[in-house]
Amino acid sequence: MSKVNIIYWSGTGNTKAMANLIAEGAGGKGADVSVLNVAEASEKDVEDADIVLFGSPAMGTEVIEEEEMDPFVESISSCVSGKKVGLFGSYGWGDGEWMRNWVKRMEDYGANVLNEGLIVQEAPEGETEEDCRNFGRQIMDEG
Ligand SMILES: Cc1cc2nc3c(=O)[nH]c(=O)nc-3n(C[C@H](O)[C@H](O)[C@H](O)COP(=O)(O)O)c2cc1C
Repeated sequence: MSKVNIIYWSGTGNTKAMANLIAEGAGGKGADVSVLNVAEASEKDVEDADIVLFGSPAMGTEVIEEEEMDPFVESISSCVSGKKVGLFGSYGWGDGEWMRNWVKRMEDYGANVLNEGLIVQEAPEGETEEDCRNFGRQIMDEG
């Protein structure tokens, strides 16, 4: 069974809601899924998983969250080389620039980024809830 770890940061709960919906989708495909706040995650959670999904909202000016998520991503840069990775996050008013840059950054680390990063405006609801579940399912199909 594939081990999928979902590591996220969320200020107001939107990216956390995405994480839980993605977990539902991947879990429905038979994955052993854990959802971890980045504050409780370690490098081992990246190393031990077959697929790692990272979630961060757009913060600052089109960047991932800078106090916890960015340093964590930096700290695991050398252990994501060759790893299957997926990215997701919520945003407010931008055009997804933070996600495009994040995908590029992870690819530069050597990660095998599955799918495009999934972005949802504010809280997932209705169709975008289903987009999150589908993202979890597709990750399992591709990974
Ligand atoms: C300090 C701050 C900076 C933000 N910067 C951006 C931004 O550059 N682009 C954007 O589209 N949304 C931006 N947002 C909006 C958040 O990405 C959006 O509200 C998101 O749904 C928050 O997700 P969360 O509930 O997981 O924290 C910003 C929000 C805050 C609080």
